[in-house]
Amino acid sequence: MKKRIYIAGCGGMLGEAFYKQFNEEYDLKCSDKDVNEDWLSFLDFREREAYIKDVENFKPDYLFHIGAYTDLEFCEENKEDTYRTNTLSVENAVYIANKLNIPLLYISTAGIFDGKQDLYDDWDTPNPLGVYARSKYMGERFVCENANRFVICRAGWMMGAGPKKDKKFIQKLMKQLKEGKKELFIVNDKDGTPTYTHDFALTVKELIQKEYWGLYNCVCGGETSRLEVAKELVKILGKENEIKITSVSSDHFKDVYYAERPPSERLITRKLDLRGVNKMQDWKIALKTYIDRYYSGYVD
Ligand SMILES: NC(=O)c1ccc[n+]([C@@H]2O[C@H](COP(=O)([O-])OP(=O)(O)OC[C@H]3O[C@@H](n4cnc5c(N)ncnc54)[C@H](OP(=O)(O)O)[C@@H]3O)[C@@H](O)[C@H]2O)c1
Repeated sequence: MKKRIYIAGCGGMLGEAFYKQFNEEYDLKCSDKDVNEDWLSFLDFREREAYIKDVENFKPDYLFHIGAYTDLEFCEENKEDTYRTNTLSVENAVYIANKLNIPLLYISTAGIFDGKQDLYDDWDTPNPLGVYARSKYMGERFVCENANRFVICRAGWMMGAGPKKDKKFIQKLMKQLKEGKKELFIVNDKDGTPTYTHDFALTVKELIQKEYWGLYNCVCGGETSRLEVAKELVKILGKENEIKITSVSSDHFKDVYYAERPPSERLITRKLDLRGVNKMQDWKIALKTYIDRYYSGYVD
């Protein structure tokens, strides 16, 4: 008998990898408020009673609560909705998991740190700067303090799902290249760690199968920055002689990306490494794997 997993908020970048990595070995029920695949059904996890009912009916062995609002500027503009979506819905998930006596997976973010340190391990103390980061950190704390059994994985700069669903840095650059831009303006004051969705899902699988409950930093290997990631992307595409990368400070984008972001959100995967369950590749390898798998023929 296959074990059953209910995955809430599964219609986004990360959900795509979770569906692909878990679908064969497990019986899945995947929901989202944006039903954009035939393997998704509708659930708005802010609706507590509907959430309880949908999960209870499926009788899962695990509850994965992975959806959230992920646009930092939207979160700044819509505080109440953000706390309802990113924090209170996590409280709903904890209630359900405890009621059914099953483990809960919650996804947190490297963005909960303030960037005063260069690197953060699993035990460093968060100090979220903006609404998105605070809403995610409060979800994390609620899970830690209240869930009977849980895995929390903190992701960094997510890359996954390709042009259809990737809303983040890599797709923003790829879109400009597809439009024929010959110059990319990239910030030179933001450090972090990419996180390939498939490696992330595989690491989660290891953790739940080994029952290593707890909180884990879960990002690709290596230390990097937005500027270095952009340079590597252009190199992977073989366009170093065609595309000019112009280094700018974050001020250059202050009207578009006005939510506060830490200067460093680099995570160290200390706990995954100590437990010997780290499936995260080095970020350069993961970036190449991602581009080869999802962007073949996307730009000329
Ligand atoms: N993207 C990153 O760089 C990043 C980094 C660190 C951590 N994370 C965390 O990783 C998780 C997955 O993020 P992602 O990158 O896959 O984001 P995503 O692509 O934006 O997907 C999130 C999904 O959740 C859905 N959702 C939002 N509110 C919902 C609700 N009330 N009920 C049901 N579904 C809802 C979204 O639907 P709509 O599109 O309709 O809102 C979307 O389909 C999130 O918890 C996020 O905070 C992301």
